[in-house]
Amino acid sequence: MSKVLIIGAGAAGQVVAKKCLMNSDVFSSVHVASRTFTRCETLKEECDNNIHIYQLDADVVNDTVKLIEQINPEIVINMALPYQDLPIMDACLKTKTHYMDTANYEPKDTPKFCYQWQWDYHESFKSINRMALLGSGFDPGVTNVFIKYASQTIFDEIHNIDIIDCNDGDHGHPFATNFNPEINIREITQEGKYYDQSEWKTIPALSVSRPIDFPEVGNKKAYLLYHEELESLVKHLPSIKRIRFWMTFSDTYLNHLNVLQNVGMTSIEPIQFKGQAIAPLEFLKEVLPNPSQLSANYKGKTCIGCMITGTINGAVKTKLIYNICHHTDTHKEVNAQAVSYTTGVPAMIGAKLILTNKWHGDGVFNMEQFDAQPFMDELPKQGLPWKVIDVDSPLD
Ligand SMILES: NC(=O)c1ccc[n+]([C@@H]2O[C@H](COP(=O)([O-])OP(=O)(O)OC[C@H]3O[C@@H](n4cnc5c(N)ncnc54)[C@H](OP(=O)(O)O)[C@@H]3O)[C@@H](O)[C@H]2O)c1
Repeated sequence: MSKVLIIGAGAAGQVVAKKCLMNSDVFSSVHVASRTFTRCETLKEECDNNIHIYQLDADVVNDTVKLIEQINPEIVINMALPYQDLPIMDACLKTKTHYMDTANYEPKDTPKFCYQWQWDYHESFKSINRMALLGSGFDPGVTNVFIKYASQTIFDEIHNIDIIDCNDGDHGHPFATNFNPEINIREITQEGKYYDQSEWKTIPALSVSRPIDFPEVGNKKAYLLYHEELESLVKHLPSIKRIRFWMTFSDTYLNHLNVLQNVGMTSIEPIQFKGQAIAPLEFLKEVLPNPSQLSANYKGKTCIGCMITGTINGAVKTKLIYNICHHTDTHKEVNAQAVSYTTGVPAMIGAKLILTNKWHGDGVFNMEQFDAQPFMDELPKQGLPWKVIDVDSPLD
């Protein structure tokens, strides 16, 4: 029985809180802190007042330290933004508390994410006998676990991987992002990057696309993006020869994004507006639909999986491990759309495995460094079933 502190009461953080309450045999009390207190209050009402709430600016390490000391949780789940990763890790170090997140650190003034900043905390977490688990969402998160599971139970050796991510849903808005708009747009407008024959290759943003046949969805155009799990998987699974990440976007979405880019609205360079410095992208985030309020009219489903080629008893085979998640189901269960749900459920599972000692270690870890089986066992029980199918024609 353990206390948990969730920092960030946004779209995905709300799902984590609700799923922790549904696993009360492990999470004895659920505490949620966030920058805007009204979001905590709304969440508390939705949770029948069964959570404890606090206002917190997690950029201020000492404030987070004080709150952790007041609550004394076993683990802090960081569901705020990637900018808060290092300050929250610092607070966990000072209070000797386990740490977990779903997105890797990114400095606010540079749109570049990289695990090294967090891997550099390994010795510090090790010295206090605590764990920092990085990237326990869906992608990264479940994708890393799918690949580890394939390496443990299906393949003798894994060579090529294509992570494929399709949101075949319709929320009814002309343009909206499914998670924090600022982080989402920074990610998509970065250069693409993939790993091939022991080399990292970069391409201009959204310059490579191809049709992909998504199971239970059909053919969709997907774009090659850089995604953070590529970095850790290449480090931890050295047999990988090629790994790429593909995500679908509708033409409408990309047209809106192009226009916004062309008029400078996606820039993070501050401009002067009525005597105040504002970053256009931060302003844009404020006028776009909030990802936590998309679910009521959301139809359709997400399909995220890992297409893996390797050897089984000497023969080259390709398998796809994937999950389908319906927006209407997740709305009904926790009042959230499927992208928040597929992020929040694995975050709860990661914390559960740490608190029940099924995943343990001192230092900073990525998901693929642990036994995949307990995580794979939890996924269907917690609302994210998965399947493995044969693939006749892998992506070239
Ligand atoms: N791995 C995956 O599969 C995956 C998928 C999607 C998202 N993610 C990650 O999940 C995280 C949350 O995404 P989301 O869609 O839930 O975003 P969101 O709806 O914008 O929620 C973020 C929450 O964090 C709060 N916050 C921001 N800065 C804070 C600070 N300094 N101190 C305390 N709270 C702060 C925000 O407060 P305000 O209400 O004041 O803004 C908001 O409530 C992001 O890091 C995102 O990259 C991971």
